[in-house]
Amino acid sequence: MYNIPVIAIDGPSASGKGTIAQLVAKKLGFHYLDSGALYRLVALQSMRSGTDFTDEIMLTKIARNLDVFFKGDKIFLTGRDVSDAIREEQCGIRASEIATYPSVRIALITRQRAFRQPPGLATDGRDMGSVIFPDAILKIFLTASAEVRAQRRYNQLMEKGISANMAALLQDIQTRDARDSNRSVAPLQHGKDAKILETTDLSIAEAMNTVLQWYAEIGTNSV
Ligand code: DC
Repeated sequence: MYNIPVIAIDGPSASGKGTIAQLVAKKLGFHYLDSGALYRLVALQSMRSGTDFTDEIMLTKIARNLDVFFKGDKIFLTGRDVSDAIREEQCGIRASEIATYPSVRIALITRQRAFRQPPGLATDGRDMGSVIFPDAILKIFLTASAEVRAQRRYNQLMEKGISANMAALLQDIQTRDARDSNRSVAPLQHGKDAKILETTDLSIAEAMNTVLQWYAEIGTNSV
């Protein structure tokens, strides 16, 4: 299990880490885990069931019993395709709030680690390198300016036909950054053992190639 390589890409909201991790996984033939999707699924299920979002015990129960199924880039919750629903801004905001509860985070640990399967895993989130896969072979902190991230999120939503407002998106991103970075459990932070990948001025292909190059260098250096 533990010699299965993990590439852990952590970073703030809308930094593009999901896109990059997914592309890296594809290039290397690795499995892919979008850990944020799990928090978004808990958020969606709690909204749909009318659960009080301050009820940590109920939220933990939802996290523990999530009936989720991943198929390609589609995500099914209790048999329904929720791939687009979990991307809505409201769901992301609620996910960020729910993610501050320690017992919700604990309830999702085993599910995340189960994605570590041969020949390897590329994953993205906030605590992939620090908590979930501390022995990841490559840890990356991927970031970009808040303005560029708001623009990327805007484009992403527009492509999906979801309406959005730039000023509101920027405000949400800044609020989410503050909450994800300042919470007491598993905060988003740049770990000392993570390489920084600043993508404000990089294309998706350039960012992906940098990650692949770093991974190849590890392979070369460890022979
Ligand atoms: O990556 P994302 O924007 O889809 O994540 C949604 C929220 O989930 C994010 O604001 C914080 C939380 N999250 C987390 O706390 N830890 C992770 N590993 C991934 C996401």
